[in-house]
Amino acid sequence: MGQSHNIVLTGFMGTGKTTVGKIISKKLGYPFVDIDELIEKAMGMRISEIFEKFGEARFRDIESAMISHVTEKTGQVISTGGGAILKEENLANMKKKGVVFCLNASADTVFERVKHNDDRPLLRSPDVRAKIKELMDKRRVFYEKADYMIETENLTPEEIAEEIINIYKEIADGKN
Ligand code: S3P
Repeated sequence: MGQSHNIVLTGFMGTGKTTVGKIISKKLGYPFVDIDELIEKAMGMRISEIFEKFGEARFRDIESAMISHVTEKTGQVISTGGGAILKEENLANMKKKGVVFCLNASADTVFERVKHNDDRPLLRSPDVRAKIKELMDKRRVFYEKADYMIETENLTPEEIAEEIINIYKEIADGKN
């Protein structure tokens, strides 16, 4: 596992993938790639509009195609949407040239982070907190397929980024 492999971030919505990814990218000098942002640019639409106009299944196809394309290259920090890892094909692509880190936060923390934000179609529910808990429970087995689980509670994005970089460097140095 060379140091130029991709660092791939997964984890539930609102666990800080984009914020942490940008910090890692800056520190390592690797380009930062956000899969959702690329999809929005390619489609000229917000993710929520893609869900509304074409439905989730179509969004998932676009997401898989984008992940397949982006993971052809190495030496990037890649932030993936929280549902990407649910597809075996995506996980395989994410691991192909990369180390996959899952950011973990409690349902309460996620709720606090997303409650004022209307961007996430899957969390549009009369009871957002319950929806988060339900989805988290369903997805836990998938998130556990990441190479490393990073507990983010009580850590700053800087500290989380440092932890990921340290693990990544250890792997690159062949200590692990
Ligand atoms: C989703 C997460 C979102 C986005 C879409 C679906 C999910 O990305 O891809 O709304 O299924 O968890 P973030 O995790 O960046 O919010």
